[in-house]
Amino acid sequence: MTNVVMVSPGFPLEMAYFTRALARTGVSVIGIGDQPVEALPAEARDHLAHYEHVSLADEGAVLAALHGLARHASIDQVECLWEPYMVLAARIRESFGLPGMTVEQTLPFRDKELMKQVLDAAGIRTPRHASTSTVQGVWEAAERIGYPLIIKPIAGAGSADTFRVDSAAELSDVLPMVRHVDVLSVEEFIEAEEFTYDTVCGGGDVVFENICWYRPRPLQARSHEWISPMTVALRDIDSDRLAEGRAMGRAVLQALGFQAGFTHMEWYRKDDGEVVFGEIGARPPGARTVDVMNYSTDGDLFRTWAEAVVGATPEPLVKAYNAASIFKRAEGSGHITRIEGLDGLLARYRDNVCVLDLLPVGAHRRDWRATLLSDGMIIVRHPELDALIELGDRFARDLRMHAG
Ligand SMILES: Nc1ncnc2c1ncn2[C@@H]1O[C@H](COP(=O)(O)OP(=O)(O)OP(=O)(O)O)[C@@H](O)[C@H]1O
Ligand SMILES: [Mg+2]
Repeated sequence: MTNVVMVSPGFPLEMAYFTRALARTGVSVIGIGDQPVEALPAEARDHLAHYEHVSLADEGAVLAALHGLARHASIDQVECLWEPYMVLAARIRESFGLPGMTVEQTLPFRDKELMKQVLDAAGIRTPRHASTSTVQGVWEAAERIGYPLIIKPIAGAGSADTFRVDSAAELSDVLPMVRHVDVLSVEEFIEAEEFTYDTVCGGGDVVFENICWYRPRPLQARSHEWISPMTVALRDIDSDRLAEGRAMGRAVLQALGFQAGFTHMEWYRKDDGEVVFGEIGARPPGARTVDVMNYSTDGDLFRTWAEAVVGATPEPLVKAYNAASIFKRAEGSGHITRIEGLDGLLARYRDNVCVLDLLPVGAHRRDWRATLLSDGMIIVRHPELDALIELGDRFARDLRMHAG
């Protein structure tokens, strides 16, 4: 039997569904993670053949635990879908001489500067960019790249410490706010609409493709609390307006030599039609977008991923719907006191609502800056894009949560 090590099999929660899907392909799954075994979600715990509770931050301890295990059972494959430990997973592979992504292949997915260097060499259009660890370096990069520009951490997530800078005066204001960041990426600001290109690959082939449209752009969504951000998984990914971005996505995977697993890329489409690369991770998109893609296909991408990585042939999925997640932020601070407009929306759109997951009255608000999930989310779907946007906008505008 094939033994597959799953790094962090129960955290974040979504990992548990991947773990279960992996086990259901017929392999034996060995979990290794930070969580005590009792804290593992049942979906993970019930499908693990064995679990090692080790600090994932301690590479030596991880390798020691797995080499200890390997005296009793062979270790054949290592999977990891949780971004912070992708390099660790690659080190485990190298330590056991296993196939799959090496450290060298993984680093361009983790380091935004290296990522763009590899893609530049392959002729992909990236924003003009530089990375630097000094204030002087930021000023030099700004001079060379020009304004407007964007400053962000080289290994950032969730738009943390990310700033648009329109002038030298603004740059002076922003620099003190990013002083704690070790290495900064300075980039040409791309004025454009923002999309994703997400895939599941197996054996070097793309077996599932998805494009999401962000409404509005993530940086805007994360700068204004009143916005209810929306991520729309598009049904018609064959449309002309997406063709170049999709082709770029394919070229990026090729340039990075990606073989098997989930990928999540972000790209920009300017008004003049030019497409520009944003970033890519060798993992699924976050904020429950796997669920959104599942509702757009009536598929099970946890299973598609698992089959793809064990070398089986996943059933092709058909996009039947446009599906969107909408994230809500309550007005006011403290505890949720009232939810307004929900009954009317449900009376009208009940058949379109796939998930309704709002914090209940009495719950304390979440930090909307720290988690896109904010105070709750809804997933809706509709075969027609115009109709989906209309109903999504209704949930964005007419559903109001209040806190106090
Ligand atoms: N060069 C750029 N031009 C215009 N906007 C940009 C640029 N770089 C980043 N942004 C904006 O900032 C957001 C966050 O940047 P990026 O995706 O690189 O970082 P991140 O923190 O990894 O984001 P996330 O984890 O939310 O995907 C982007 O989605 C985009 O809206
Ligand atoms: Mg991003």
